[in-house]
Amino acid sequence: MWCLELLLPLLLIINDATCQWNVWVPRDISAMTNSCVVIPCTFMYPSGIRPYRGIHGIWYFGQPYPQLFPPVVFKSRTDIVHESYKGRTKLLGDLHQRNCTLLINNIGTEHSGRYYFRADLGGANMYTFPDFAELKVLDQPNIDVPEEIVSDDSLELTCYAPDNCPDMTPEIQWMYTDYLPDPEFSSDYLEESNTAVLSSTLTFTPRPMHNGQLLGCRVYYPNTTLVYERLISLDVKYAPRSVWVNVSSEVMEGSSVMLHCEVDSNPPSKISWMFGDQELMWDTASNISLSLDDVTPAQEGIYTCVGDNGYGTMNTSLYLAVKYPPREPQVNDSMTVLEGTSLSLHCSTQGSPAPTLTWLKDGELVGTITADELSVLEITEITPQGDGQYRCLAENEHGRASSSLNITVEYAPVLLEESKCTVVREGVQCVCMATGNPEPTIEFYLPDLNITINETDGRYNFYTHTDGHTSTGMIKLREKGERVENGGPAVNVHCSISNMYGRESVLLELQQEKKYMMAVIVGTIGGVAVIAFIIAAVRYVGHNNKKENGNPRQDVVLENPALYYSAVKKDKQNLRKKVLKTELLGSKFNSILEETTGEDGDYQPVGSMAGQERQELNYAALEFIGARSREGASGRGDDGSNYSEIKAK
Ligand SMILES: *[C@@H]1O[C@H](CO)[C@@H](O)[C@H](O)[C@H]1NC(C)=O
Ligand SMILES: *[C@@H]1O[C@H](CO)[C@@H](O)[C@H](O)[C@H]1NC(C)=O
Ligand SMILES: *[C@@H]1O[C@H](CO)[C@@H](O)[C@H](O)[C@H]1NC(C)=O
Ligand SMILES: *[C@@H]1O[C@H](CO)[C@@H](O)[C@H](O)[C@H]1NC(C)=O
Ligand SMILES: *[C@@H]1O[C@H](CO)[C@@H](O)[C@H](O)[C@H]1NC(C)=O
Ligand SMILES: *[C@@H]1O[C@H](CO)[C@@H](O)[C@H](O)[C@H]1NC(C)=O
Ligand SMILES: *[C@@H]1O[C@H](CO)[C@@H](O)[C@H](O)[C@H]1NC(C)=O
Ligand SMILES: *[C@@H]1O[C@H](CO)[C@@H](O)[C@H](O)[C@H]1NC(C)=O
Ligand SMILES: *[C@@H]1O[C@H](CO)[C@@H](O)[C@H](O)[C@H]1NC(C)=O
Repeated sequence: MWCLELLLPLLLIINDATCQWNVWVPRDISAMTNSCVVIPCTFMYPSGIRPYRGIHGIWYFGQPYPQLFPPVVFKSRTDIVHESYKGRTKLLGDLHQRNCTLLINNIGTEHSGRYYFRADLGGANMYTFPDFAELKVLDQPNIDVPEEIVSDDSLELTCYAPDNCPDMTPEIQWMYTDYLPDPEFSSDYLEESNTAVLSSTLTFTPRPMHNGQLLGCRVYYPNTTLVYERLISLDVKYAPRSVWVNVSSEVMEGSSVMLHCEVDSNPPSKISWMFGDQELMWDTASNISLSLDDVTPAQEGIYTCVGDNGYGTMNTSLYLAVKYPPREPQVNDSMTVLEGTSLSLHCSTQGSPAPTLTWLKDGELVGTITADELSVLEITEITPQGDGQYRCLAENEHGRASSSLNITVEYAPVLLEESKCTVVREGVQCVCMATGNPEPTIEFYLPDLNITINETDGRYNFYTHTDGHTSTGMIKLREKGERVENGGPAVNVHCSISNMYGRESVLLELQQEKKYMMAVIVGTIGGVAVIAFIIAAVRYVGHNNKKENGNPRQDVVLENPALYYSAVKKDKQNLRKKVLKTELLGSKFNSILEETTGEDGDYQPVGSMAGQERQELNYAALEFIGARSREGASGRGDDGSNYSEIKAK
C-alpha cells in the first residue's frame, strides 16, 4: 500500500510490478582516489512482506551472493566488514525509508568494482539485488579526446572530475595552454542517476605545430592536498605542409646523384619521386632518397616530389641539369663543287652547356663563332682558294669535338706566269704550267712543224708533272750540232691547257737566259745517285746535209728521241750526265755518254721547281738544239724556215 502510495502518481499502470524486490543504484559511479564517494541507493520489497525486527542491509563487493563470501563493505547488523573497508564505510540512508545510500571514505583504486546491496527484512526475507553500482576509482581525471584531431578544425577537449563526495568539491584546471591559439574554457556540471560529474571543456583550433604538444588537466580539491593530473599529447593530423627537396643542381653525365625529399606531415605521407608522368619510386616515410647512377642527358629535367597522406597533397620540384661535353658535330658530307657555286654548310651538335660552334678552314677561323645549336657557314661564289678542309669545332667547358668535310673546288685551267720558253745551251726549253681542277692536261703545239706533243704521244720526250692542281709540262728543243749564237732560235711553241671545264691555248714567250744554262735536274730517288730523265726530242734533220755549207746554223735538230741520263750526286761537281740515244719508231740511235764539269750554272732548276727539293722528279724535255732565236718578241714564231725537215735518225 505504501508502495503504491509512493509511486502512484508516476506509475499507475505498472502497479504491482514496482512493488517487487527492486533497487535503484547508479550503474556507474566514479571517485578520485583518497576522496570519498556516496553511492545513492533506494530499494523496494514486495508489499506483502512484513519486516521482522527491523530492516537491515548488507553491501557486498564484487559478488552478490553470500555463498561466494564476497567482501562485506557494510553490514547494518554488525560492525564486521572486510578489512579493506574498515573504518571507511557508513550508511547514509535510512533503511526504514528504503534508503540504502552508502558512503565510502578515503577510497583507493582497489575499491573499484561492483557493489551489491542485500536487503535483510528478517527471517527468510533476504534478497540480494542483482543490479549493482560499478565504482571506478580514478587516480587521474578522464579527458575526452576526439578519435581524430585534425589541424585547422576546431577541437574540444573535455576533462571530467567526479563530484560524488559531499564534503569536497573538485575544481578543474587546464595546464600548458599558454601557447594555444585563443583557447576557450567552459565548465559544466552533469547530474545523472544521482551521480555528478564536473567537466571543463577546452576549445581551440590546433595547428600542425601543436602536433605532439602536451596538454594537461588538473583536478584538485581546495583546502586539501589532493591533486590529480592527466597529461595528453596531441596527435594533430595535418596534410603535408612542407616538401623539402634539394636545390636544383648540375651533374656530369655518367656520375651519380642522390635526390632527397623530406615531407612534413602527420601521419607520414606516401612520398613519390616523379619525373614527368613517371613515378620513379615511392615509400611511406618521412623522407626518401632517389639515387640516379650513371646519369645520361635524357635524365635532365624536372623532378617532383609528391607527398600525400590522405589529408592533403603537396609537391616540390627541382631541376636536374646534366652536363656533358659536345657530341661529335654533324656536318655536310665532303663535296666537289664548281667554282662560283654558293654553299651553306651546316654544323650541329649537342652539349651542355650549349657548345659554341666555330668553323675553321684549314685551321683558320672563318665565319663567326655561334652559341646556337646550329651554325651555318655561308660561302658565296666559292673561289679555287675556297678548296680545303672545313672543320666545325664544338666546345664547352667540359670538352670539345669536331667534324670536318672537304670541299673540292673545280675550275677551268689557268695558265701560270712561269710558263715560257728559255734559250739554254743547246737549244730552247719550254715550260708550261697551269692550275685547274681536275688538273689540266698540257699539250705543246709547234705550229711551224704542225706537231702536237702530249702525254700519250710517246715519240717525244715530254715531261709532265702534276702537283695537286698544278700541272707542269716541259719540252726541250735541241739544236743539232752547233750552238746558238746571237740569240736563240726563232721557234713558236704553243701551250694548250685543258680540263673538263675549259681549254686555252697560248703562245709561249721566248726568253733568253743564261747562255749555257741547259740542264735539268732530276731528283734523286732515295740514295741512288743516278736518276734518269728522258728527253724526247724530235731531230730536225731537214736539208741539213744538203744545205750544210749554205746555212748550217739554221739547221735545228729535234733530236728525237734522245735519252739523257743525268747523274746527280750530293756534290754537284761529280755530276755526270749521260745522254743516250734510244730507239723510237723503229729508228736506231746510239747512246751518247757525256761527261760534264758540273758547273753549278749548268744545273738550274726549272719553273716552279726552283728551290724545291724533290724526291722524285722525272721529266722529259723536248730540245730544240741549235735553233736560233731572234731578239725581241717580234722575232718569235714569224717564220718556220728554221725547221725544214723532221727526220728521225
Ligand atoms: C537518502 O539519504 C540520503 C542521505 O541522508 C539523502 O541525501 C537522500 O536524499 C535520501 N534519498 C531519498 C530518496 O530520500
Ligand atoms: C577553504 O578554506 C578557507 C579558509 O581556510 C575557506 O575560506 C574556504 O571557503 C575553503 N574553501 C572550500 C572550498 O572549502
Ligand atoms: C640532396 O640533399 C641530401 C641531404 O641534404 C644530400 O645528401 C645530397 O647530396 C643532396 N643531393 C644533391 C644532388 O645535392
Ligand atoms: C629519414 O627517414 C628515416 C626513416 O625512414 C629516418 O630514420 C631518418 O631520420 C629520416 N631522416 C631525416 C633527415 O628526417
Ligand atoms: C604539384 O602541385 C600543383 C599545385 O600546387 C599541381 O598543379 C600539380 O599537378 C602537382 N604536381 C604533381 C606532380 O602532383
Ligand atoms: C648541308 O646540310 C644541310 C642540312 O643537312 C642542307 O640543308 C644543306 O643544303 C647542305 N649544304 C650543302 C652545300 O649541301
Ligand atoms: C679531307 O682530306 C684530308 C686530306 O686531304 C683527309 O685526310 C681527310 O680524311 C678528308 N676528310 C674527309 C671528311 O673526307
Ligand atoms: C697538220 O697536219 C695534219 C695531219 O697531221 C694535217 O691534216 C693538217 O692539214 C696540217 N696542217 C697544216 C697547217 O699543215
Ligand atoms: C695527244 O695528241 C693526239 C694527237 O694529237 C691525240 O689523238 C690524243 O688524244 C692526245 N692525247 C691527249 C691525252 O690529249
